[in-house]
Amino acid sequence: MPLPLILTGLTFGLAYLGIKGVDVTVDAIWDKLELNNRHHKKLESPNECSNIFQGRWVYDPNFPPLDYTKNCPFVPQQFECLKHGRPDNDYLKYKWIPNSCKLPRFHGINFLKKVRGKSVMIVGDSVLLGIANGLRCDFLVDMVVGDNKERVLKLDSIEKGTAKWDGYDVLVFNTWNQGLQTGKNQLWDVIEEGNVRHKNMDPLVACEKALNTWTKWVNSKVDSKKTQIFFQGISPDHFKSRNWANPNARNCARETRPAPGKRYPGGRHPAEAVLEKVLKQIQKPIQFMNVTAMSQLRKDGHTSIYGANGKHVDCTNWCLPGLPDVWNELLSARLLLGY
Ligand SMILES: *[C@@H]1O[C@H](CO)[C@@H](O)[C@H](O)[C@H]1NC(C)=O
Repeated sequence: MPLPLILTGLTFGLAYLGIKGVDVTVDAIWDKLELNNRHHKKLESPNECSNIFQGRWVYDPNFPPLDYTKNCPFVPQQFECLKHGRPDNDYLKYKWIPNSCKLPRFHGINFLKKVRGKSVMIVGDSVLLGIANGLRCDFLVDMVVGDNKERVLKLDSIEKGTAKWDGYDVLVFNTWNQGLQTGKNQLWDVIEEGNVRHKNMDPLVACEKALNTWTKWVNSKVDSKKTQIFFQGISPDHFKSRNWANPNARNCARETRPAPGKRYPGGRHPAEAVLEKVLKQIQKPIQFMNVTAMSQLRKDGHTSIYGANGKHVDCTNWCLPGLPDVWNELLSARLLLGY
């Protein structure tokens, strides 16, 4: 009897392992994968790979696009851009080539063999699940309902989450979409730190505090002999075309190609420095998946007006299939091959 593999919130390339609240057993997924996996070759043997996150995007007209949307009940449909009328599909044909090695294509069956009998939890946010109002870095810390029914985000408390994460073999934190969401998508009414309440707080500052609370939990509670932790970096948005020097664009709409070259003209993501500072505090071995720079180049990958809610130009979430599959390839290369 395989252990149930409970994943919340990650669309795992073709292995659509689960959406929030759905438990799937490995065997059930296995059947689905068999349907999708025929064109996948065997994994290449491991080779030298010093930094899989540094590299370039290369267009390959013959790159077989992943199509996991037909037989898989778990794909969140709101991000299936082709289904919602996206006319171009070159964005599916860019391969990520790390400078130092070749990346194996994500192989669902091998991935599942590796995780079989293990429990994996993906503490996911909206970008991977693909829900625009999903959780942000605020869900690392506790959210409670206060006396007046207001939603209180407690920056220094992490008990509710950790109870759920306890005992897993692999925990994947994929937490930073836009830091803490403010404005109409905001998930809380009040931020609390110690006994002090704040109505407003700079989202970068609040996010740093939440991450620090998480770091303390990792340092004091995680047993690294048992649990392997992956932490995925910031997923960038593309609302300002001046960042990629296209005078004809305003945002990601109608972008059909990645920004050329290896370096994003808009420079480093503003939250990068915060994350660097936080990561330095972690005393346990964690696998940091630095997908930010590679994703910054992919101004062409967003749902734009081809999401389920086509009225708005969405330059935060990504088309599926699409860039998140590449992140998953990187994640599984780490997990399977130790890249
Ligand atoms: C991620 O990689 C980029 C570019 O390689 C680097 O500038 C950035 O500092 C890295 N992020 C973190 C949090 O280390």
